[in-house]
Amino acid sequence: MTGVTLTRSLHSNAIANAALKGSAVLWFLTAVIGQWIFAYYTVVFYGGSALRGDVEAVNKNLIHGIISGDLIGNVMVIAHLVLAAIITFGGPLQIILGTVLTSGGPLQNISKLQSAAGAVHRLNGRIYMLTAFTISIGGLYMIWTRGTIGSFAQHIAISLNGVLIMIFAAVALGLAITGNIEKHRRWALRLFLVVSGVWFFRVGLMLWMTIHQRPVGYDPVTFTGPFLYFLAFAQYLLPLAVLELYFRTKDKASAPGRFAMAITILVLTVLMGVGIFAAFMGMWLPKI
Ligand code: HEM
Repeated sequence: MTGVTLTRSLHSNAIANAALKGSAVLWFLTAVIGQWIFAYYTVVFYGGSALRGDVEAVNKNLIHGIISGDLIGNVMVIAHLVLAAIITFGGPLQIILGTVLTSGGPLQNISKLQSAAGAVHRLNGRIYMLTAFTISIGGLYMIWTRGTIGSFAQHIAISLNGVLIMIFAAVALGLAITGNIEKHRRWALRLFLVVSGVWFFRVGLMLWMTIHQRPVGYDPVTFTGPFLYFLAFAQYLLPLAVLELYFRTKDKASAPGRFAMAITILVLTVLMGVGIFAAFMGMWLPKI
């Protein structure tokens, strides 16, 4: 390789790396905005209804909601909504803190900002892990004792989501405790995606509705149909698959491969942005 071709190759490698990183950051920031809107909706709608004692508004929005005489079930629903707000706000925050903590410089040269981020990361991490476990166990309890809308396949899909959340939380926590930071980062991202499954479901459904302008591939009354069966699994399996592709591209791919991945992430970010906007306008804003 001549000096000129070597310089060109280094140059295109640097641009490909920057494009990949830039697209991932843009995807993440878009997701953070969308998740914090969802958290805001949960707090304002359910919190507001609770403060006003408006059980009817809550029940109109849920499949079963608050049922008189079902103390355990009602506690589970209330806990689920409180934990939903905590985890949807705390999840993105945890990734942001982790990034500040590990960005640049060896750990012994850690800045004041980084050590503060580290302390909050550890505290928020404990809350996040505990929330991930309890929200999944509560969700499983609600699905298999009270049931919910949709078919058996959808109940299996969301249950698998709950089980994956608990497994990934345990793995990410174990890796953090043993100091295996690089692997911890990757499992924390996988955990973030499975925890975001129910959010991806809402965003994906509203994107689909925006594209078709009417319910296609499912029955809006029974909430069953092939598109919803697909989405129930895709809500966490698709983001996990894209993340694995991203890790592999980052580790091994050539400059053109990195560009291709960056463009894929940009396209997915635009689609996700459309879904977030549609969910905000159609699902959340009318209730807050
Ligand atoms: C981990 C992240 C999760 C979040 C942020 C979350 C959030 C929510 C929210 C906000 C609602 C109220 C419906 C709405 O206003 O959109 C809800 C309902 C529900 N969630 Fe979750 N959820 C999560 C995980 C799960 C899991 C893993 C399961 C099951 C295994 C589950 C089962 C349910 C059920 C059955 C309802 C309906 C309750 C009813 O209609 O009475 N959730 N969830």
